[in-house]
Amino acid sequence: MDMHFKIFRFDPDTDREPYYREYLVATEPQERILDCLNRIKWEQDGSLAYRMSCAHGVCGSDGMRINGVCGLACQKLVKDYHGSEIVLEPLPHFRILKDLMVDMDEFLDRIKAMRPYLLASLPAPDKERLQDPVDRKKVEEVIRCILCGSCNGACPAMDENPEYVGPAALVWAYRYLFDSRDERHDERLQAVAHPNAAPSCKNYFECTRVCPKGIPVTKSINLMKREIAKVLDEN
Ligand code: SF4
Ligand code: FES
Repeated sequence: MDMHFKIFRFDPDTDREPYYREYLVATEPQERILDCLNRIKWEQDGSLAYRMSCAHGVCGSDGMRINGVCGLACQKLVKDYHGSEIVLEPLPHFRILKDLMVDMDEFLDRIKAMRPYLLASLPAPDKERLQDPVDRKKVEEVIRCILCGSCNGACPAMDENPEYVGPAALVWAYRYLFDSRDERHDERLQAVAHPNAAPSCKNYFECTRVCPKGIPVTKSINLMKREIAKVLDEN
């Protein structure tokens, strides 16, 4: 089956404006979009820029917009798209480095600002800080995040407030806010209560719809809002 690919192109070093270039690819329905991109690059146009590594939904590097919906090119199959054209664009809300490749620095800085690591004063035991299975269950969905950026790309609240830290940073905030071994719950809660953090989420649910790891992103943000109301607003 021949499939038309219309791909966003932009090299800030040489192009004044972005443009789209079209490629015709002989595909099989069960092929992944990433397979098609690789064939375009290897057989038709070596100048095309995008990121990929694992090709199995693990590394999170090939987040992009596919026919208007953010996701991983290695998880989407040709047969998922019924028309004869597939449009590939870089993730919205990220600075474009080249073509489908975006700058992840600000995204990662916003996650780092949430201190995505355990803050505990007791010395670490020989092996590991064990956790009760019941407590572990509270964070087992959010630890699946692979930092792909699809949620931030899809989030309309990021258009409304460019200072909004975004859903991915809040997923990482949640992961440690509700970790039973962490000792800075109140400090972490103050951070997510900032107007540019959890209060900027307007429940569009787009993050939840696109997350390739099935993380209930909006629900997690709402649980943090509830915790803010319970702990901070009552004091
Ligand atoms: Fe990607 Fe989901 Fe993590 Fe967002 S929460 S960065 S969509 S894996
Ligand atoms: Fe690693 Fe798609 S290439 S997640």
